[in-house]
Amino acid sequence: MVDVAVLISGRGSNLQALLDACADEKFPARIVKVISNNPDAQGLNRARRAGIPTAVVNHKDYEDKQAFEDALDRELTSCKAQLICLAGFMRILDARFVNRWKNRILNIHPSLLPAFKGLHTHERALEAGVRFTGCTVHIVRPEMDDGPIILQAALAVKPDESAEQLAARVLELEHIIYPEALRLMASGEARVAGDKVIIETAAYPDGGWICPVPKAELARES
Ligand code: GRF
Repeated sequence: MVDVAVLISGRGSNLQALLDACADEKFPARIVKVISNNPDAQGLNRARRAGIPTAVVNHKDYEDKQAFEDALDRELTSCKAQLICLAGFMRILDARFVNRWKNRILNIHPSLLPAFKGLHTHERALEAGVRFTGCTVHIVRPEMDDGPIILQAALAVKPDESAEQLAARVLELEHIIYPEALRLMASGEARVAGDKVIIETAAYPDGGWICPVPKAELARES
């Protein structure tokens, strides 16, 4: 069983997907702590409802980034986290912190990386007129939204849809691939090899991508 800490800043819908997955006793990871830099993050209530310990490490309480990240590090060390999932965590982590936790930090990003790093991904995807977009779970490297890709899910952009509509459709895929990427890493079915993640299970004969499978079909498969 791999102990995981989840870092959040807001709504926490991806946290919820991880909590739900970890509630299954066959899942190879468990969430030992949810840490937010924002004391008002809605996700903190989701953690409390699930009976998971929470902590607030507010960046505004520290004189600089290093002091904030040292406090974060102390929380992560004290709960003995083996993996860290960033789930809508809106602070950029310094290289010192990322390298200390090398290959042990996962992030979810709402685009098909390396396209559309940063914020406002859906608006930018629509402006660019891409035909496909989606989401990515990757291992965190010091550069923002960079690092070995664990899983991606793709969908076709509909003509005339708004950024909000697109965001909602991508979010559904996020909630599928984040728990699955965590499962792959925690079980050892996926491992980091240099700049790539290798998936060693027969479940992904074509590589780590997921098309939007209708929910009903997913339910039938499981
Ligand atoms: C998600 O779209 C995630 O990909 C991005 O921030 C958003 C967080 O949403 N990194 P939530 O807090 O998980 O609902």
